[in-house]
Amino acid sequence: MQARIVVLPGDGIGPEVASAAVAVLKAVAQRHDHQFDFQEYDIGGIAIDKTGEPLPRSTLEAAQQADAVLLGAVGGPKWSDPNAKVRPEQGLLAIRRALGLFANLRPVRPHPAALDASPIKAELLQGVDIMVVRELTGGIYFGEKTRTADSASDLCTYSIPEIERVVRVAGKLAQQRRKHLVSVDKANVLETSRLWREVAARVMQDEFPDVKAEHQLVDSMAMLLLSRPRDYDVIVTENMFGDILTDEASMLAGSLGLLPSASLGDREAGLYEPIHGSAPDIAGKGIANPYAAILSTAMLLRYSLGLYTEAGRVEHAVDEVLKARIFTGDLARGGASVSTDAAARAVIERI
Ligand code: IPM
Ligand code: MG
Repeated sequence: MQARIVVLPGDGIGPEVASAAVAVLKAVAQRHDHQFDFQEYDIGGIAIDKTGEPLPRSTLEAAQQADAVLLGAVGGPKWSDPNAKVRPEQGLLAIRRALGLFANLRPVRPHPAALDASPIKAELLQGVDIMVVRELTGGIYFGEKTRTADSASDLCTYSIPEIERVVRVAGKLAQQRRKHLVSVDKANVLETSRLWREVAARVMQDEFPDVKAEHQLVDSMAMLLLSRPRDYDVIVTENMFGDILTDEASMLAGSLGLLPSASLGDREAGLYEPIHGSAPDIAGKGIANPYAAILSTAMLLRYSLGLYTEAGRVEHAVDEVLKARIFTGDLARGGASVSTDAAARAVIERI
């Protein structure tokens, strides 16, 4: 197959993990006789430096025409001045919104070989396999913001259709998995959450009667994720709760450097990125963990290109590499560790 893939390396460790991911996609293309055409564009801080904007028009236009977009990470101390008018993160939010990517899939599956990298007891982690579906284009991230001399506000809004469509994505995933869904909100306090719960309950009852649906308050969910992670299958939640819960959930897998994500909308073309940030403290050292970015390419192959065998092959290769304890520093916990490139090469050898 032929596919146009736009690559947005971004800032910090973004370029390092993105280039590892591209190398893996090239290996997949070679092995399976596909033609992937890669085009690189700027986003985030580097784009601000070059053009003054975190999401230049040329980047957005290329992304709109691509079959899939692969992103590294954005942000860094250079652009973190609280008084700055433009910030790298705005580029990421703008591209998610402009491409209509309302559903962010974040799978959490601790690898048996990396259980000791997690601060959670191994016996709690065995068999954990969670898919968090985070709403990505609404809520407090995108509401009106105000600032006066002595106060500030961020508006959180959700409409019924916004909730329905993301719950449907989660419901479909639950049907293909263990048929259990938990919708997370703060319905004891927030009006948006009360609407969320009402709509989620109705969609699940009317359209997914075969899926067991429950509701959980976000504070309680934060606790349950650590105390009984095995009990969860699909979790669906609003934008900010999903942001926070998935960083927490990454500790089940042992490292933020292991969690991939897919951001999907109504079209097949999606955006794929590791859930970790730009990690400026280790940028440029060649030691970043590329596995989250590499696992994001597996999601790209599966969800945007429909290449299921190839997706499975990438995931299997990463499994094998972890089994062989080819760990970057974040996983090695003081033991032997390899560079970003060596980790990527180990995956490629197994493809
Ligand atoms: C994420 C990140 C982003 C978010 C930041 C960089 C804007 O934390 O993808 O989880 O909050 O969505
Ligand atoms: Mg986050």
